[in-house]
Amino acid sequence: MSDHVLIEHAGPVRTIRLHRPEKKNALTRAMYGAMAAALNAAAEEEAVRAVVLAGGADFTAGNDIADFADATARAPGEPGAGFLFLEALAAFPKPVLAAVRGHAVGIGTTLLLHCDVVVASETARLMTPFTKLALVPEGGSSLLLAQRVGPARASWWLLSGEAFSGREAAEAGLATCALPDAEVEAEAARRAAQLAALPPGAVRESKRLIRAPQAAALQAAMAAERASFGERLRSAEAQAAFAAFLRRSA
Ligand code: COA
Repeated sequence: MSDHVLIEHAGPVRTIRLHRPEKKNALTRAMYGAMAAALNAAAEEEAVRAVVLAGGADFTAGNDIADFADATARAPGEPGAGFLFLEALAAFPKPVLAAVRGHAVGIGTTLLLHCDVVVASETARLMTPFTKLALVPEGGSSLLLAQRVGPARASWWLLSGEAFSGREAAEAGLATCALPDAEVEAEAARRAAQLAALPPGAVRESKRLIRAPQAAALQAAMAAERASFGERLRSAEAQAAFAAFLRRSA
């Protein structure tokens, strides 16, 4: 487990909360492991009817860049902890909600594509700066983002890495709604309780049907992204981009 991932219980709603505020909730391998384990436990436990993914003042600054820089420690082809977490999230059978405040970077944005409800702060700052780090899209975003927000906007966001607000995310269809920052957590909790009160079998089957038409295409997209991302991580240009970020903080 990781001290940086807190598990909160509120009746049938399980909240998985990122808690590494000094690093804007940048995600380490241990945090991905704890998140995947919490999801797998919540999938098994009958009493859990909905899961909320939340952070604090920030949702997450994305993958910890020191961990990216260390990718060569892994055998080529071996899946990273982030991909294993994304697979657990994509396969999660019960409703998942996200409460997004502050920064939602990289996987912090792409994981939202696997959530059923996204409550964003109007002022949240989302971005997918993959190319800036000499990387490529992950999390199925090369497929799913265009489906959500249209190909023009998806291409711009994924290629440029330019930031956009929670309000823009809601207008584009990536977020369910955008609210004043102070209302985000309560609204996510309210919607989670609403879904948790419904007949669980019907909710699960509905979620399965909603996701089923693109399940095979999503698997193929995620596999292709994973292969490419793994190669990019080891590239000289990506390693230079990570080193530049880490020098900044040194
Ligand atoms: N990995 C590791 N450390 C990170 C991090 C990340 N992804 N994101 C932020 N941090 C650390 C910073 O290095 C800094 O640490 P320090 O206080 O020890 O120097 C701390 O978190 C606070 O971040 P800071 O950059 O000072 O905050 P900011 O408000 O000026 O900027 C961001 C916030 C998110 C825009 C900026 O931190 C950033 O661009 N982070 C990298 C995001 C990224 O590229 N993620 C990977 C996507 S694929």
